[in-house]
Amino acid sequence: MEEKKKYYITTPIYYPSDKLHIGHSYCTVAADTMARYKRLRDYDVMFLTGTDEHGQKIERIATAQGVTPQAYVDNIVAGIKELWKALDISYDDFIRTTEPRHEKIVQKIFTKLYEQGDIYKSEYEGWYCTPCETFFTEHQLKDGKCPDCGRDVELLKEESYFFRLSKYQDRLIEHIKNNPEFIFPQSRQNEMLNNFLIPGLEDLAVSRTSFKWGIPVEFDPGHIVYVWVDALSNYITALGWGTEHDEKYQKYWPADCHLVGKEIVRFHSIIWPAILMALGLPLPKQIFGHGWLIIDGGKMSKSKGNIVDPKFLVDKYGLDSIRYFLMREISFGQDGNFSNEALINRINSDLANDLGNLVSRTVGMVEKYFGGAIPADLKTGEFDHSLIMTSLKTVNKVEELMDKMLFSDALSEIWAFIRRTNKYIDENEPWVLIKDESKKDLLANALYNVCESIRIISVLIEPFMPETPAKMREQIGITDPEICKWETTKIWGLYPICTPVKKGAALFPRIDVKKELAELEEAMKAAQAASVAAQLAEEEPEKKPEITIDDFDKIELKVGVVLASENVKKSKKLLKNTVKIGNEERIILSGISQHYTPEEMVGKRVVVVTNLAPRKMMGEVSHGMILCAEDSEGRLSLITPQRDEFEDGSEVR
Ligand code: ME8
Ligand code: MG
Repeated sequence: MEEKKKYYITTPIYYPSDKLHIGHSYCTVAADTMARYKRLRDYDVMFLTGTDEHGQKIERIATAQGVTPQAYVDNIVAGIKELWKALDISYDDFIRTTEPRHEKIVQKIFTKLYEQGDIYKSEYEGWYCTPCETFFTEHQLKDGKCPDCGRDVELLKEESYFFRLSKYQDRLIEHIKNNPEFIFPQSRQNEMLNNFLIPGLEDLAVSRTSFKWGIPVEFDPGHIVYVWVDALSNYITALGWGTEHDEKYQKYWPADCHLVGKEIVRFHSIIWPAILMALGLPLPKQIFGHGWLIIDGGKMSKSKGNIVDPKFLVDKYGLDSIRYFLMREISFGQDGNFSNEALINRINSDLANDLGNLVSRTVGMVEKYFGGAIPADLKTGEFDHSLIMTSLKTVNKVEELMDKMLFSDALSEIWAFIRRTNKYIDENEPWVLIKDESKKDLLANALYNVCESIRIISVLIEPFMPETPAKMREQIGITDPEICKWETTKIWGLYPICTPVKKGAALFPRIDVKKELAELEEAMKAAQAASVAAQLAEEEPEKKPEITIDDFDKIELKVGVVLASENVKKSKKLLKNTVKIGNEERIILSGISQHYTPEEMVGKRVVVVTNLAPRKMMGEVSHGMILCAEDSEGRLSLITPQRDEFEDGSEVR
């Protein structure tokens, strides 16, 4: 027997720090659709998803909630698995980065890269966005904030291991140029080349020492492995690479598709391939960067409080309606808008009207005109040819489009065929044919062809809709799985004659738009309010531990006066101040240039921490720190002595 072709597709592994929303579901449903399609095409499919459980963000949230990080992630991951169950996600494996099978191999990868000289020890200074777990160079920041999420970044300086990313730059550029399908769509490929690869790659800090929740570096356990190196490795650790049982790795690697959101294409198409090159392993065949599901004009995210709960939607409208909407409404690769109105309109027009109605009216007519089964005596009618040709063409087009993951276009073709079938009924006018006994064979033929269309449609929609095909088949009486295989969509006339049909419930009941929209808005507002409240509770600032007066006494605080101030050239945040404190002058850097101009600073009396160890920032050394208050919106205000012209050098106690 010929061996099956393999197909390996992955989703990103999700951070268990958020309640997953419809945006995450979108990516996972797309991967699931592809996995189901390939299985239907008789591929040996490996579909991997999972969770990315390490990192400072998780550690902070867990600490704030007073639980261990492990307990925290266990709880969230259980919820994620439930959501995938509700969405009928047919993953073959679910990997958690806290599993020993993953952790051990990540350590092995790190050690190997270190031993062969691809990782070396040095010191890191840079901007870090904790919510995104990403380092940025000064010039990557946007207005001094994280270019991805817009939040504040922290300046970090620590001993760190570095991966020689720069060494792989030329090979990466060459690989991308020689493999036009490697990064898809094309626009993302250009972005990677022009924004990152061609300007030049810097070596990447791949270890951290300032927190504990991660995989320890085997040979230097004070360091933990940078979460992205940890996370990306999941695509091979899940296959057992580097173990005695690497059969899955041998069979499925390289991945056929890493499906990822556009903001993480960079990690998948630069860092991950470079690591694979260093390990001497083949590169994935494709990184597919999909767009974002937008609601109210912004990327959906819990932090913006505009989440839409997929479970709520599935409970309300049914799984297949939601999956259909996600894959149909948005052109895959582009951003797309989610709105309740669009969802309900799709359900009413495409599902209730076009598909649901087709099945119910057909079965109704077979019952009414023929007592529940189409008789064997058929006579070809004048509209048959066009219907059959449409069917064959549709299957061809759907195959082409699915191979390019153009889900929306594929569905659009299938729906054109559904509408063609409805039109075929109208052209044949069964309600007229039934009145003429001599045209009974024509009537039987028309209804037979419609049932045959329904059979074929039930197969074509299978990758998208896990529940509806069986319901359709039940109504038209198909019990033989052999005529539900993909290849049978290319053969007209397999619907068995004289099959008893059985009218069932409407596949997709129509929705009263106005009433429903009002209800939905209410429910979503409530859900959003709850999620914002939960988030605020989560972000309650960490209380610092109690200290003694002796602890406090270690801090030397003095009044200073700013003599001069200027912007630090390379920085969007820092001012370089010359501060007079009694009879000494010092250079003190402050990250306040978005709140005070250098001119405003001059003459200000400020409170300075004078015994802080000197710190280097952006190439300058700061000798102390000027105290500021920060409000909930991130605005800064200098702390100054309340009495005017208060003598500088005075101690603050
Ligand atoms: O990035 N629309 O995890 P994550 C479409 N752990 N897709 C969305 C979306 C939206 N509104 N919101 C999120 C991570 N996503 C890392 C991945 S992989 C080795 C590590 C998508 O939970 C997002 O684009 O923040 C990304 O692909 C995925 O959800 C996971 O996001
Ligand atoms: Mg993200």
